[in-house]
Amino acid sequence: MGYEELDEIRKQCASCEKCGLCKSRTNTVFSGGIPNDKLMLIGEAPGFYEDKQGEPFVGKAGQLLDKILGCVGLSRNKDIYICNTIKCRPPENRDPLPEEKAACREFLDKQIEILKPRIILLCGRVAVNSMMDTAQGITKLRGKWFEGPYFSKMMPIFHPSYLLRNDSREKGSPKWLMWQDIKEIKRVYDQLCK
Ligand code: URA
Repeated sequence: MGYEELDEIRKQCASCEKCGLCKSRTNTVFSGGIPNDKLMLIGEAPGFYEDKQGEPFVGKAGQLLDKILGCVGLSRNKDIYICNTIKCRPPENRDPLPEEKAACREFLDKQIEILKPRIILLCGRVAVNSMMDTAQGITKLRGKWFEGPYFSKMMPIFHPSYLLRNDSREKGSPKWLMWQDIKEIKRVYDQLCK
């Protein structure tokens, strides 16, 4: 399916100067993976390597994300569209400021509107706070399905950088919980998208 409209938005994003992050960025990081109407992942913000390469999730956390997806046969080259809450790297990888998220929001909204994915994964706290009106933390929310935009199903999941800081694979550990979540995601993906 053609999603040419996304190319137009990507161009607008590349020249955006709506917040201060445009001064320190090397590249905007608009999206990675494959535009499709099935599966989208929304992360937090570009980090050091993403800023250098203009691609989301290419550092250590991204490599772990690829591995997790691969465990259930999903790949960024054919199955998933990957983007972030904001498209420019915050200095020292600090949390995006409310005004930065607000300035960037139109790009994320357009990505969702154009693709209308059946499933949206909210990867980490920043993505959850951007897409859901809730005071609950990611630990409570992860693994559950919520109603998302355009009748999508939305699931909060742990951010891979959190998993990198938690080595255990024991039952109940963050890595074990992620394994339960990715299996559930694949189950629903197969149901809705095949
Ligand atoms: N972490 C994110 O949330 N997004 C990226 O693109 C890279 C790391």
